Amino acid sequence: MWSPEEPRWGWGPRAPTSLVLLSVLVSAAPLGLLGEETRQVFMEVISGCPTPQNLLYIRAVGTNSTLHYVWSSFGPPAVVLVATNTTQSVLKVNWSLLLSPDPEGGLMVHPKNSIQFSSALVFTRLLEFDSTKVSEGAAEPPGKPYPPYSLDKFSWNNITLDPDTLSTTFQGHPIDDPTGAFANGSLAFKVQAFSRSGRPAQPPRLLHTADTCQLEVALVGASSQGNHSLFGLEVVTLGNGPDCPSMKEQRSIDDEYAPAVFQLDQLLWGSLPSGFMQWRPVAFSQKQRNRESSLPCQASSLSPTLAYSLPHSPIVQAFFGSQNNFCTFNLTFGDPTGPGYWDQHYLCWSMLLGVGLPPIDSLSPLVLGIMAVALGAPGLVLLGGGLALLLRHKWYSEYQSIN
Ligand SMILES: *[C@@H]1O[C@H](CO)[C@@H](O)[C@H](O)[C@H]1NC(C)=O
Ligand SMILES: *[C@@H]1O[C@H](CO)[C@@H](O)[C@H](O)[C@H]1NC(C)=O
Ligand SMILES: *[C@@H]1O[C@H](CO)[C@@H](O)[C@H](O)[C@H]1NC(C)=O
Ligand SMILES: *[C@@H]1O[C@H](CO)[C@@H](O)[C@H](O)[C@H]1NC(C)=O
Ligand SMILES: *[C@@H]1O[C@H](CO)[C@@H](O)[C@H](O)[C@H]1NC(C)=O
Ligand SMILES: *[C@@H]1O[C@H](CO)[C@@H](O)[C@H](O)[C@H]1NC(C)=O
Ligand SMILES: *[C@@H]1O[C@H](CO)[C@@H](O)[C@H](O)[C@H]1NC(C)=O
Repeated sequence: MWSPEEPRWGWGPRAPTSLVLLSVLVSAAPLGLLGEETRQVFMEVISGCPTPQNLLYIRAVGTNSTLHYVWSSFGPPAVVLVATNTTQSVLKVNWSLLLSPDPEGGLMVHPKNSIQFSSALVFTRLLEFDSTKVSEGAAEPPGKPYPPYSLDKFSWNNITLDPDTLSTTFQGHPIDDPTGAFANGSLAFKVQAFSRSGRPAQPPRLLHTADTCQLEVALVGASSQGNHSLFGLEVVTLGNGPDCPSMKEQRSIDDEYAPAVFQLDQLLWGSLPSGFMQWRPVAFSQKQRNRESSLPCQASSLSPTLAYSLPHSPIVQAFFGSQNNFCTFNLTFGDPTGPGYWDQHYLCWSMLLGVGLPPIDSLSPLVLGIMAVALGAPGLVLLGGGLALLLRHKWYSEYQSIN
């Protein structure tokens, strides 16, 4: 394997890097790119010298494919995701280009023809709304908007890796904070990679696989501009061709892992092999994440947006060049009546980003157990597929009415 001193990729000047190497047994996965069971995950901070900019580089190697995730807080927080059909593909960083006004070519994955899918997400603005000013009947926007915080005008910490959890946190606050709103507060982006599938201990307990990364966004301790503020995030992505990625809702009758949430939202970039972003439409207003602290999370539809109106992300331009179709959507957390950020000055939301088929929960043992008891286990076996489907619909509508 690699020794940390040996240059492996990147030809620009750079400071010594910290490297976390996690080796796992790579078991044969017949589907290649579309679902490796385990991957070798390498996580590294690539630093630019002399400027103290950091890139978080995650390289997830499977039997026949490699996923490259480059996260950056240089400009607004952003990630470039590249999936290749070989274990040999490498990331190349040219810092002098990346830091220049025209960064195109500053970030590349070689060999170019191994790239099966690539896209990016950029978190451009933290939105804030006055939820007391919601016009009657209007679902959107969730109140009168306050001036948003542009996340490219934030100052971010120097990231350090946590090798045990394969995670790191970008923590930031506005560079210019005249009202002192962030004097005791921060916005944090916690990125976590996985070498195999599993589920975190904390709700919403999204099922992850080795093909995914998790992002947890937390707003903690910042003063809001009003007494009843709802917060939101503006997210920018790249369209495939002239179209925006599609937003899909997946229904489920099972809420064991995310109390009272019967839905999974997905952003899909296109036909397979493609990328996805997946989240439960729930956020939490307390560190103690449970039903009482859960807030609804609403996603607007995607709309094409002109590049000049958006904060510019150097890593996105470095990899994709300047000719791009950007699409934007807003996520908003909470509603005027339920619990909110105002309770504890805390807001937390999480999502997965990955390639291939999005992980889907099967019915949890608990729910299967309830169904078996309700219907009688032998009956359930005899009734077979068709009737079970009907019952699922019935159950689903009952759950809905409770909701
Ligand atoms: C980085 O890009 C610049 C501009 O294209 C080029 O002059 C330079 O040689 C590149 N650096 C390396 C190490 O290749
Ligand atoms: C993955 O690689 C193995 C070994 O090289 C090969 O047998 C298998 O067919 C490959 N699978 C795919 C989907 O390319
Ligand atoms: C990867 O895909 C490219 C086409 O996109 C193909 O030319 C190449 O042979 C593939 N490589 C492997 C190792 O499957
Ligand atoms: C990050 O590290 C650089 C030098 O490595 C230092 O100049 C800079 O002040 C640090 N930034 C923060 C926010 O700690
Ligand atoms: C920040 O915390 C300090 C000490 O707890 C407190 O005195 C101050 O009022 C707080 N500032 C804001 C803006 O909340
Ligand atoms: C916020 O609450 C404080 C104390 O309850 C009150 O004095 C103030 O007018 C309120 N501000 C707004 C904008 O409603
Ligand atoms: C997101 O919210 C901001 C602030 O209200 C608004 O200006 C923008 O148009 C919204 N974007 C989308 C795609 O709805």
